[in-house]
Amino acid sequence: MIDSARAVSIGLIVTELVINAVKHAFPTPRADAAVGVRYQVSGEDWRLTVSDNGIGKSTEVSKLGGGLGTAIVAALVRQLDAQVTMESPDGGGLKVSIEHTTFHPKALATA
Ligand SMILES: Nc1ncnc2c1ncn2[C@@H]1O[C@H](COP(=O)(O)OP(=O)(O)OP(=O)(O)O)[C@@H](O)[C@H]1O
Ligand SMILES: [Mg+2]
Repeated sequence: MIDSARAVSIGLIVTELVINAVKHAFPTPRADAAVGVRYQVSGEDWRLTVSDNGIGKSTEVSKLGGGLGTAIVAALVRQLDAQVTMESPDGGGLKVSIEHTTFHPKALATA
């Protein structure tokens, strides 16, 4: 169970990231193309992962800063008090993780 405000934000993020995978990850159609969406919860902590096995996102493209979608996802992630990480392993594909964790090492260090 999650509150409606968080559900709306997470829904918008999933929509943008799945559309990205469909638009960008598979320039040539492939029979084994796959897009995965996973939502994990542990107490107050949660993690949303959207992954694909497509061409991946090069660091050159990442340096360009991205389009409106990237900006919207960044704003929603900030609103959710979460962090986004992107991985494009050598084998291809892109995995975007959005994580909200109540574990703050810095806060513990200064306590
Ligand atoms: N799943 C993906 N696989 C490969 N490249 C990707 C993927 N997602 C994003 N990209 C690359 O990152 C760029 C920036 O993505 P972003 O969502 O910010 O913009 P966009 O999808 O091109 O436009 P918009 O989201 O504003 O409609 C894309 O143009 C594309 O080159
Ligand atoms: Mg996009």
